[in-house]
Amino acid sequence: MILGVLKEPTTEKRVSLHPEAVKALISAGNQVLIETGAGLKAFLADDLYSAVGAKIVSRIEVINQAEMIFQINPLPTNERAAAGAGKVIIGVYQPLVERELMAEIASQGLTLLSMDAIPRITRAQSMDVLSSMSTVSGYKAVLLAAASLPRFFPMLMTAAGTIAPAKVLVIGAGVAGLQAIATAKRLGGVVEAFDTRASVKEQVESLGGKFVEVPGAVEDKAAGGYAVEQSEEYKKKQSEMLEKSIIKSDVVITTALIPGRKAPILITNEMLVKMKPGAVVVDLASVNGGNCEGTVDNETVTIEGVTIIGSSALPATMPEDATKMYSKNVHNLLKLLLNGDKLNLNFEDAIIQGTCITHGGEIVYAPLK
Ligand code: NAI
Repeated sequence: MILGVLKEPTTEKRVSLHPEAVKALISAGNQVLIETGAGLKAFLADDLYSAVGAKIVSRIEVINQAEMIFQINPLPTNERAAAGAGKVIIGVYQPLVERELMAEIASQGLTLLSMDAIPRITRAQSMDVLSSMSTVSGYKAVLLAAASLPRFFPMLMTAAGTIAPAKVLVIGAGVAGLQAIATAKRLGGVVEAFDTRASVKEQVESLGGKFVEVPGAVEDKAAGGYAVEQSEEYKKKQSEMLEKSIIKSDVVITTALIPGRKAPILITNEMLVKMKPGAVVVDLASVNGGNCEGTVDNETVTIEGVTIIGSSALPATMPEDATKMYSKNVHNLLKLLLNGDKLNLNFEDAIIQGTCITHGGEIVYAPLK
């Protein structure tokens, strides 16, 4: 099979496949085309790809010749049309949000596998880009907060006096939140965390964080480990409890997301004005509207002395390791999707079924049917 890797749009620094994965795919009998300069921003020069047997070609050659095309960010309409019906495209497409785009891709006759739709099952963990990229985001969010905070993270006892440690609150203790807790602890912060899923209490505590308990949340096992919408009564109780932690915190990292919905507002403007001047909020839910009322996606704003960093593109700020992880996830999916050098689109497999969004001119993704 001819596999083609495209250079990402200018704001993106990652690339879909690392030379290590390319080498293995070529050994399995595939041919790999790399667009000139595709890996440069991830510090992967063209010669690293040619050294493992890939062919460096122009963008149009990748689009015309590759049978399977890789670009993390969605391909524009004209390039999808140029690729032509029957081709396979693999990237991160947010199918539950971009419903019209999914219909358009189906009508173009392309087979789309969206990496963010990989089912949250144990067998698929090694392919889960939401988890790997959340790991990057959770880590980097704390570093950004530390760099913007006018105070230290650790407690210091010095000849110039004693410095109290920073109080860090992490809202949403999923993959990004747990990584944020671990990173903030390593920097010496005093960490509290909150999540509507009481089942994460133990995980928070095992990382040295204190779990803020708000009893009465609804959890749904059928949601596959994800959070579900809460009652108005619970939201009110949660808001009152959380406010106490928010206003005493130096740093708040928010990661609360509900799949396919706008992110819940957990830090209102009234809470913001009560926060300590100089405090920092890093809002990782900003792409879905944010958990903080003042958040602007991919911008840093200051409200009443509180810095609010809206960060939905943090994986691109650590392109080297983020590329290694994304590429590993894609390569693991390809082990299922390719039988040697032949496409093996086995819809009996829950991972293929859950990840394939369009095929044969139709939307085949169950949540959209
Ligand atoms: P996510 O990014 O959708 O959400 C982040 C966190 O926000 C979640 O922990 C969620 O419970 C929390 N949240 C949602 N609404 C909230 C609210 N109003 N207040 C406070 N917190 C709120 O989820 P993520 O991190 O991608 O995964 C969530 C869980 O899914 C993981 O902790 C794990 O249990 C499970 N999972 C399973 C995998 C597997 O088995 N392959 C892979 C990855 C995750």
